[in-house]
Amino acid sequence: MLPFDSLISANQLTPEIISQITAVTDKMADDIDRYGRINLLEDKVVALLFFEPSSRTMLSFQSAAQRLKAGMVFAQGAASTSIEKGESLEDTIRMVEAYSDIIVMRHPWHGSAETAARTSTVPFINAGDGGNEHPTQSLIDAYTIMRHKGRLDDLNVVFGFDSLQSRSIHSLTTLLSQYPNNRFTFTGPEELMPTSKMLESMNDMGVECSVADSVDLNDGYDIFYVNRLQQERFADPVLFEKNRKKYRLTRKQVEGSDCLILDPLPRIDEIDTDVDDLPNALYFKQASYGVPVRMALLSLLLSKHNTP
Ligand code: CP
Repeated sequence: MLPFDSLISANQLTPEIISQITAVTDKMADDIDRYGRINLLEDKVVALLFFEPSSRTMLSFQSAAQRLKAGMVFAQGAASTSIEKGESLEDTIRMVEAYSDIIVMRHPWHGSAETAARTSTVPFINAGDGGNEHPTQSLIDAYTIMRHKGRLDDLNVVFGFDSLQSRSIHSLTTLLSQYPNNRFTFTGPEELMPTSKMLESMNDMGVECSVADSVDLNDGYDIFYVNRLQQERFADPVLFEKNRKKYRLTRKQVEGSDCLILDPLPRIDEIDTDVDDLPNALYFKQASYGVPVRMALLSLLLSKHNTP
């Protein structure tokens, strides 16, 4: 059981809740290995509404629902729904709640998740609302860090290269800000650094923040959380083209360092492919945790799962 019906923002994910979800995720990972699929949500229907492109989030939610034996209803792209004819998001949610027990939605508008959750009478999960938040990605990131670092506090983390527009960075900084002694360094183009308001709210949570033109991964960093420049959110395409090849992690920078490399993916230009076989390149492993993490979240929100 979780103390909320809907997950909209990583600010709902307290350390206690993260511990609970992590424990259930471990159990789900074990159940996948042992049984493949389990009879936990066989009486439930999950609605997946993806109004913006997705590979990992969409497919891992589908896989999670399948492994829990839930039924699914599915819409991919606004053009596949009556939103294309002008129906509002609120009316769409009112219909979908009648067809399902939980709604998972990705949408291009900042704030759409809050609107949908407010409208919905069934539990709701934000699978990414524009450039705002991606709380289920931050759960995967936290789970990856716990598995490979053993803690979520006292971490020295670099974020690059689009901290301004990356919803994954927004949600992970929000989540990690709740733990003591974390330090964040932001690197990337000057125009894509966090706003002073964002930095202020992290400082208010006790996080020591700095910005850097470039970083040396041997300088005591625990994690480099890389995310592509968010092309679809650039008002000025020239700014994107100017920087897209300039900011990338090379094998030379990563090799020999203990710093874990995470990336919510998709990868575009931000990490050279010859980094992939280094032991600290964890991004594909990180993506694989999406299934047990989302199984844990679905089952906890649908309240049938007893925490181990
Ligand atoms: N990490 C992530 O959200 O990837 P997708 O956009 O492919 O879902």
